[in-house]
Amino acid sequence: MTQRVLSTRRDLPGSGLARLESQVEVVSWTGTGTPKPAELARIAGGANGILALGNDRIDAELLDAAGPSLRVVSLASMGFDAVDQQAAADRGVVVTHTPGVLAETTADLAFALILMARRRLASARDCLHAGGWSVFRMDDYLGLDVCGATLGLLGYGQIGRAVARRAAGFGMRVLHHDPFAPQDDHLSWAVDFATLLAESDVLSLHVPLTDSTRGIIGADQLRAMKPTATLVNTSRGGVVDEVALLAALRDGVIHSAGLDVFEREPRGADVTDLVEQSRLVALPHVGSATEATRAAMVDLAVDNLLDVLFGRSARTPLPGTAAK
Ligand code: DGY
Repeated sequence: MTQRVLSTRRDLPGSGLARLESQVEVVSWTGTGTPKPAELARIAGGANGILALGNDRIDAELLDAAGPSLRVVSLASMGFDAVDQQAAADRGVVVTHTPGVLAETTADLAFALILMARRRLASARDCLHAGGWSVFRMDDYLGLDVCGATLGLLGYGQIGRAVARRAAGFGMRVLHHDPFAPQDDHLSWAVDFATLLAESDVLSLHVPLTDSTRGIIGADQLRAMKPTATLVNTSRGGVVDEVALLAALRDGVIHSAGLDVFEREPRGADVTDLVEQSRLVALPHVGSATEATRAAMVDLAVDNLLDVLFGRSARTPLPGTAAK
């Protein structure tokens, strides 16, 4: 019997979607923007698999709309916070994601944000574009050094370690805090959370968004950081309390921040005071956005989907999800 897959997008990079279409029947959502669960539910009936992006909400209503034939939800994303994992487990649906293939690219972006925020490069470039570079002054565009600074990594998985490797080339001292990686290694010293906050010149976040990490960087944590510190977030927006960060930047509690992710995405015209802060560099969730990496994410997501549909073990199921 032909397998049927709901793809939440048609405009996916690389050849993964075409490969999927050559093996199963694919029904794609063809609207613009981000599909609402109810829109997906209308076309999900009878699906054996769902191919989705990390910010597509996969809830019980959508799983039920697909019905008992549904066996796998495959995310072309490392993050899986938009999936109701309990609802999937209750219905025997395997959920897979795409760790690994995006780690190096996302680490590059984290490092770009570290350099941009700390060296105030976006402000300097904006000034040049606005015709404001009329004289060379010794005290213009002054930032803080990245070389030789202390980098703190909250979360020391694949992306955190890839950032640590880059930091070695900048002569940085690297600290990390991660309950799942509590040991020192040749790149980084394991420390407790309080030490990480107190000693980091740059704090870079690499944790998934879960009940225990939501808002983990709030007003108290920002106050525990150095006034010269830079906060960088390429993980998920909900890890940082944005109201507290806005206040911290306005009041000079920390030096600067670089954000690739926000509590609500996408933002469109809904840019807040946060994005307008001169000490903040903001990007529209482009951590994994290279042609090769986005294509590799789709490829791995398609492999996972086909594996489950054709009775093999998924390559990269969510932690704690039984591969079928
Ligand atoms: C991920 O894979 O989680 C990235 O944030 C892109 O969605």
